[in-house]
Amino acid sequence: MDLDLTGKHALVCGASEGIGRAAAHELALLGCDVTVLARRPEALAAVAAALPQRGAQAHGWIAADVSEHAALSAQVQALAAGKPVHILVNNTGGPPGGPAHAAEDAAYLDAFNRHLLANHALVRAVLPGMRAARWGRVVNVISTSVKEPIAGLGVSNTIRGAVASWAKTLSRELGADGITVNNVLPGYTRTARIDQIVADRARNSGQAPEAVLEAMRKTVPANRFAEPAEIGAAIAFLCSPAAGYVNGVSLAVDGGRMQSI
Ligand SMILES: NC(=O)c1ccc[n+]([C@@H]2O[C@H](COP(=O)([O-])OP(=O)(O)OC[C@H]3O[C@@H](n4cnc5c(N)ncnc54)[C@H](OP(=O)(O)O)[C@@H]3O)[C@@H](O)[C@H]2O)c1
Repeated sequence: MDLDLTGKHALVCGASEGIGRAAAHELALLGCDVTVLARRPEALAAVAAALPQRGAQAHGWIAADVSEHAALSAQVQALAAGKPVHILVNNTGGPPGGPAHAAEDAAYLDAFNRHLLANHALVRAVLPGMRAARWGRVVNVISTSVKEPIAGLGVSNTIRGAVASWAKTLSRELGADGITVNNVLPGYTRTARIDQIVADRARNSGQAPEAVLEAMRKTVPANRFAEPAEIGAAIAFLCSPAAGYVNGVSLAVDGGRMQSI
């Protein structure tokens, strides 16, 4: 199986920690140059410096807020002008929890900006280079909620669905250019995001965080949460030459938690 990404350049967003950092690590292991993007420069510099080196790979980082679309586009266009981006991993922090009916309009607009419009700005910035190379990979990190909405994540459920529909549409538009667009839907994964969700649920239910964690664990057939590297590996596979005919899918990596087929 051809997993070799030597000579390719990946831009991995939301990569100062968590799933994004793990995806950057897995992609570097497959041989490509990786640029990591998030808001905190010190964390990014440390992540980039720690990425695996297989030969002469040039890793780097960009500090940017994906909600600031004009600045984001300018930074990524400049990056791509210097070294075309062949692989884009769209990923950022999840929206705050709470029921859909109670959320303010601003919460929906913030999430739409940070997820859908940010992804859109990033794709537009890297697309000319992918088209010129007639090779590209876009992987969006979303959530299992695109298939089974998750109670207490009203804004997130709504925005994730929009991202999944946008991605499916793109996959059909760009396939003829040698570009694939796929989504990874993580299950419960041991990162800061899951700590935030557990804390929210504990506060809202009056349960201890340990009890919330245990109840969540019991819903997973694998009987454990995922390690970030397990999600990163699925992302890296979808970016590999071996996955060239996989396009427009939403791949759940959830230890079997979802009940739908
Ligand atoms: N962990 C799970 O169990 C789980 C399950 C399903 C779905 N997901 C989703 O998967 C995605 C990644 O999750 P995670 O667990 O890895 O989250 P995480 O540990 O909270 O990491 C989020 C990353 O996004 C960056 N980020 C946040 N806001 C940003 C912004 N405005 N601009 C640029 N970068 C930003 C953060 O870095 P900076 O702070 O440096 O900007 C960080 O690197 C999220 O959308 C999450 O909701 C996670």
